[in-house]
Amino acid sequence: MSDTGTRILAIANQKGGVGKTTTSINLGTALAAVGRRVLVVDFDAQGNASTGLGIMRADRRLTSYDVVVDRTPLDEAILTTLVPRLEIVPGDENLSGVETELAEDPRRSYRLREAIRDHVAKVAHDPDKRYDFILIDCPPSLSSLTINAMTAADALLVPLQCEFLALEGLSQLLRTVEVVRSGLNPQLDIQGVVLTMYDKRNNLSDQVADEVREVLGNKVYKTVIPRNVRLSEAPSFGKPALLYDYRCPGSEAYIRLASEMLQRERMRAAA
Ligand SMILES: Nc1ncnc2c1ncn2[C@@H]1O[C@H](COP(=O)(O)OP(=O)(O)OP(=O)(O)O)[C@@H](O)[C@H]1O
Ligand SMILES: [Mg+2]
Repeated sequence: MSDTGTRILAIANQKGGVGKTTTSINLGTALAAVGRRVLVVDFDAQGNASTGLGIMRADRRLTSYDVVVDRTPLDEAILTTLVPRLEIVPGDENLSGVETELAEDPRRSYRLREAIRDHVAKVAHDPDKRYDFILIDCPPSLSSLTINAMTAADALLVPLQCEFLALEGLSQLLRTVEVVRSGLNPQLDIQGVVLTMYDKRNNLSDQVADEVREVLGNKVYKTVIPRNVRLSEAPSFGKPALLYDYRCPGSEAYIRLASEMLQRERMRAAA
């Protein structure tokens, strides 16, 4: 996908509440803040990425559901947000019906991929519309939605919560990646793993972080996202933490994560 300059990342982990949406919103905002054009695709029926970016339910006229079920072109569903250069395809509860609605279609897993690739091709030569990053906020499951996201993506970014048994769920996720690679998307890569909700007062956080680094090596980002109440408050104001309080430790961590990611992406492009 690198020839179009748009990098498509699925933010995925089938475990609930590990920081996928918080990472989609705040990493997206941090990348936009340093001049990148970013699209967040809210691919979860909870619609939390949309809410956290200030998109009211009434404004979600067309969503990622319409894109994958009715083949609505992506640009008809795209909305601007209060963050310059950060746009969103919103999500809503209709997404919970995708699994059944697409059950009969043998090419159901390619729906999001086709929609994104059509759009990327259409705007490839328009610097005002071309995205540098598309971040797909996945639901907490290995459902048809997550498979669609993995099929659409160049790579996965996996938020991993610093807690007991953090690695347990990861092996299941990696097995799914292997299945997707063996058929739907042979190119799918693991872009990185980001440790979230790190609590420096809790020894367990350090133990988990060490263990994860031992197993996954340099796939794990050096930047660790601390547990920070400001990150959890921001969505109720419909704002990314970076706008709500750009100097809180959580915002600072996402700014560092964005810069580490850009560095990683430059190295990948040069390789
Ligand atoms: N670093 C953090 N510090 C404190 N709270 C956080 C942090 N990251 C996320 N949270 C809070 O934890 C909860 C779960 O986070 P989030 O919604 O990002 O996870 P998720 O993986 O997207 O969840 P789901 O699986 O339900 O989609 C939210 O209330 C969020 O505000
Ligand atoms: Mg979420």
